[in-house]
Amino acid sequence: MATSSKWDSFTQAWTSASCIEVTALLRQALQHRSFKWVAWLLCVMPFVWLVWGAANDALGANPAEYLIRATGDWTLRLLCVTLAVTPLRVLCGLPELAKLRRMLGLFTYFYVVIHLLCYSWLDMGFEWTDIASDIAKRPFILVGFSAFLLLTPLALTSFNRAIRWLGAKRWQWLHRLVYLVAGLAVLHFFWMRAGKNNFAEVLVYALVLGALLLFRLRGFVGKRLSGFTR
Ligand code: HEM
Repeated sequence: MATSSKWDSFTQAWTSASCIEVTALLRQALQHRSFKWVAWLLCVMPFVWLVWGAANDALGANPAEYLIRATGDWTLRLLCVTLAVTPLRVLCGLPELAKLRRMLGLFTYFYVVIHLLCYSWLDMGFEWTDIASDIAKRPFILVGFSAFLLLTPLALTSFNRAIRWLGAKRWQWLHRLVYLVAGLAVLHFFWMRAGKNNFAEVLVYALVLGALLLFRLRGFVGKRLSGFTR
């Protein structure tokens, strides 16, 4: 019994020591002046890879479907990463992470624009009337399009000048729309996969985004409650 509790406290001490070391290493990396460039390169790599694949006929039997799906996947992945910035910053005590949020948000928008362009071009041949009736006819496309429309003002107001122009409070309220976008994005994916009865990936995204939303709600409710009790 005594040996096991000694072992437990040793493991605990070792885990927290290595946690501190990892955080310190991460902080050093985040403070390095080339870190933003590395993050930028990582975000642009899927796009470069897709362009390379399309140019070299390396996207499988149905390149159009591959491009539409891959750009949809990258939009959703980057949305998760963008929303993870604040929880990671708070939980790991890494304020430097905040510097990446705007860039990640803009890359999310970049990938959804490419996703929309691939659909409009490769699926619909830029036939605007067909695109409009497809959006109205297919609920999963309508939901995706709504998510895109809601992301647009967020991308347009992601600059310091817009924050000054709107005022911090209004800007913050507007940018909370990103959680609605996340919900619509999961619904879009769910609806698309419903026809194939294949929900495993959708569930993973729903759980990740649900956890991130809960974290933010906890902070929001906590702030309100401390305001009441003060
Ligand atoms: C924030 C907005 C959006 C997100 C996060 C998103 C995400 C996704 C994801 C994850 C997929 C499935 C990829 C896979 O199967 O691996 C997908 C597929 C698709 N999305 Fe989106 N999407 C968004 C907006 C849009 C918009 C604006 C349109 C068009 C108006 C659109 C049209 C499509 C189409 C046509 C597919 C492929 C369906 C198929 O192959 O059967 N999406 N999207």
